[in-house]
Amino acid sequence: MTEYFALVPAAGSGSRMGGELPKQYLPLAGQPMIYHALATLCACADISTVFVVLSPDDAQFHQYDWSDFGDKLQPLYCGGVTRAESVMNGLMAAELEPDDWVLVHDAARPCLTQAQLARLIAELCEDTVGGILAVPVADTLKRANAAQRVAHTEDREGLWQAQTPQMFRTGLLLQALATAPKVTDEASAVEALGLHPKLVESETTNFKVTYPQDIKLAELLLTEKMHGRSGN
Ligand code: CTP
Ligand code: MG
Repeated sequence: MTEYFALVPAAGSGSRMGGELPKQYLPLAGQPMIYHALATLCACADISTVFVVLSPDDAQFHQYDWSDFGDKLQPLYCGGVTRAESVMNGLMAAELEPDDWVLVHDAARPCLTQAQLARLIAELCEDTVGGILAVPVADTLKRANAAQRVAHTEDREGLWQAQTPQMFRTGLLLQALATAPKVTDEASAVEALGLHPKLVESETTNFKVTYPQDIKLAELLLTEKMHGRSGN
């Protein structure tokens, strides 16, 4: 039987966030940031195991209490120098079957909801390629020139912002990442094989915490979720 697994790359340093502590461990709504994505993935009944890919010299992860998640959470200390390398190393260490689905999700997207996750799985479980959560671009897009003035306005028609989870069959994803190792998301590697991942509409609340100003919004959303006001 085809199984579903999650793989959470969490071996980055959070350079755009700044500070000593890698951003996935910054305190957020009473927990380290990474806890929230892991909690959502571990609570999903379709997912068998949640692998978290850590840096080989991660000194933080073991300091927290992960007992809420039991055996469903499996740390792998095999992160690489890029996100793609962390994902590749994690996939090899996880030893999944080629037909198993793997949902790759950023540790830095703590506001993923159970509803978004369920929608991704429901829309892709019969798909031959796989796909990603994404949102249609809302803002008008400007192309800058060298002087940081507007060279022209880009047509935003048909443009989407990629999010995670990104859901592919393990065999396909391994083949794709081996062929295109310099990608910033899994879908790009699959696209390089000439395939067309499906865009599953998500919400802007599943944003990636990247800059210091992103923390406050994530904190608000997670606090609301904990008090049961979001319905997710
Ligand atoms: N990541 C990883 N291994 C790397 C780099 C990134 O596992 N070598 C993970 C991050 O920990 C994060 C996710 O990939 O969960 C998305 O990456 P990003 O938001 O870019 O995080 P960082 O690379 O840590 O941040 P920055 O780019 O600002 O340094
Ligand atoms: Mg990065």
